[in-house]
Amino acid sequence: MAPSLNAALRRVILAAADSRRIRRFVASHGLRLGAGRFVAGETLDDAIRVLRRLNDQGFRANTTLLGEGVATEGEAAGVVARYEEVVRRLAEERLQANVALKLTHLGLVFDEELAYANVERLVAFAAGAGEFIRIDMEESARVDPTLRIYRRLREAGHDNVGTVLQSYLYRTPDDLESLLPLRPNFRLVKGAYLEPPDIAYPDKADVDRAYAALLERMLGECAFTAVATHDERLIRRAIELAEARGLGSERFELQMLYGVRPQLQADLVRRGYGVLVATPYGPDWYPYLMRRLAERPANLLFFLRSLVRR
Ligand code: FDA
Repeated sequence: MAPSLNAALRRVILAAADSRRIRRFVASHGLRLGAGRFVAGETLDDAIRVLRRLNDQGFRANTTLLGEGVATEGEAAGVVARYEEVVRRLAEERLQANVALKLTHLGLVFDEELAYANVERLVAFAAGAGEFIRIDMEESARVDPTLRIYRRLREAGHDNVGTVLQSYLYRTPDDLESLLPLRPNFRLVKGAYLEPPDIAYPDKADVDRAYAALLERMLGECAFTAVATHDERLIRRAIELAEARGLGSERFELQMLYGVRPQLQADLVRRGYGVLVATPYGPDWYPYLMRRLAERPANLLFFLRSLVRR
């Protein structure tokens, strides 16, 4: 599909995702209609089964309890308790899997201090269980508070925590430079939100170029770099750089999303690379699914076909 048509469709899907009628319909039928390709299920037991299968196939994995903005301190406390249960289960089941979470799910939208306290509690709890927590990156308004919180966690002595940088943002090279002294653990992504052109590159070719330049700087300078993309050209570049610099799987890994390019994931594992499959679960999977559909409008056809076949 032509890049401009693809970009236009992407915007339409992300804008339509806010429609209440579409949300209601997809939320009540979506898992059966094909969202299950991208989401491990609605319960922690569903997720554990999928994570075990991925580990058996040679993948590392992470999981996320899907959900984003919460509106009260009580709701955020409920999310913390559920994540403690996730961490406990991952450790008990001895899975090669960690947690990736969103700070808006811990209260960031209404209280940064509360989000810090909640994530600090989870990171400390995870350290006790020998587990790692990654803080996902959300829309551009959340970047400053997320990076502030990451810095505070590291300065408070927590090493079992990482976060994410997005190559579509013009600011990212500066963010990287200012955080490098912490020897950070970063995942690099292109960026999944609808951002205005004064903040983010509107053209995909520029986003890809920025990604390659960031990789060059991150691999080796960061304590750990998670190269999160399904873009084969960038994956090849990351592997070349890592090999030239003698970086093994303790310093970098490839990351992809559950259900996206599974054949490529399997090929990379067969070739001996560390590959993590990000495998979310939970009843609130709607916004996550919409971002996946928008990334590749062909997924929308897959989704609509499931609807017609019923
Ligand atoms: P690109 O979109 O150029 O796709 C390259 C190729 O991969 C496509 O041609 C297609 O073949 C395939 N592909 C990509 N997406 C697909 C899809 N949904 N379905 C089917 N095929 C697809 N974003 C963010 O803003 N904050 C975050 O914290 C994260 N976290 C995160 C973790 C992990 C492990 C991954 C892989 C991605 C994220 N993302 C993210 C999402 C990221 O920003 C980006 O939107 C997607 O990875 C899609 O971009 P690609 O890098 O894959 O390249």
